[in-house]
Amino acid sequence: MSTAGKPRVLLMHPILDPGPAILAEAADVIPYSPDLPLDEAYIRQAAEGCVGIVSQLMDPIREAVLSTPGLKIVSNVAVGFDNIDVAAATGHKVMVTNTPGVLDDSTSDFAFTLLMATARRVVEADYFTRQGKFRGWAIDMMLGTDVYGATLGIIGIGRIGRGVAHRAKGFNMRVLYYDPNPLTPEAEQQLGATRVDLARLLVESDFVSVHVPLTPETQHMLSTQQFDQMKRSAILINTSRGPVIDEAALVAALDAKKLAGAGLDVYEREPAVHPGLIRMPNVVLAPHIASATTRTRSEMSAMAARNMATAVRGGRPPNLLNPEVKK
Ligand code: DGY
Repeated sequence: MSTAGKPRVLLMHPILDPGPAILAEAADVIPYSPDLPLDEAYIRQAAEGCVGIVSQLMDPIREAVLSTPGLKIVSNVAVGFDNIDVAAATGHKVMVTNTPGVLDDSTSDFAFTLLMATARRVVEADYFTRQGKFRGWAIDMMLGTDVYGATLGIIGIGRIGRGVAHRAKGFNMRVLYYDPNPLTPEAEQQLGATRVDLARLLVESDFVSVHVPLTPETQHMLSTQQFDQMKRSAILINTSRGPVIDEAALVAALDAKKLAGAGLDVYEREPAVHPGLIRMPNVVLAPHIASATTRTRSEMSAMAARNMATAVRGGRPPNLLNPEVKK
């Protein structure tokens, strides 16, 4: 407890309005020093005496942190929670929450943005034009890949995968998906999506877009063998988590022209980006901003703050990932 009498909550990074006000009503908020490394030992020290931690995806929240005496909840400001060891949290009876739903549209929009930008070489064209290289129309200048009517392979048909499929309808795309959990026949019909195995998806797709969480099963699910199966004209899009793709293998495949390009928002060792990707003009790179719209980030902040406030007041937060901790 703080001197103000409210329970203490560690805020790892600033969040957007109305998040801070929601938190401040329920707790005494202690900001993590931006000068400290995002390292478990330091986070553990900062969390001493706190009942909650508001974390973000770059914060490692594992055993050392989760075993802090008195810790009751970790509220992650993200839908992904691979930065948190949920099993260890459950073992220590610490609740873990995330922010599902509010970022589906912005993330689906951005996956499509990367797809279009890579297919039609938008970033390269912008750079070319700014450099004063546009000296007149030419029939063979900046030739790209058609999107309208092409085949899109979606790996992972959760909320964001479905959002991408929905957008693809407007581009008259043939949509294939791979997911261990099939959609209902009605949902498949409504989205115009056909379930196939991964090999068929890779062989037949002009664009492959990845929408799976990072788990031990999905880590490096796309590597040399999978790139070998893809069309040489294919473009790979990733807005999920970097380690789902074996980045070194991707660079080798692009170098060997086994793929035509890639649009990436996430990386294996963020914030580091493989130098091989940086030098490739056929790769569009973004700094993990798929959910970065003002509305979405503010809703994520509010949701994470509400999860925390509810737990701090003794309630069951709405987006609880380990319900066994709080009956
Ligand atoms: C998430 O929420 O997991 C995204 O990667 C960031 O919005």
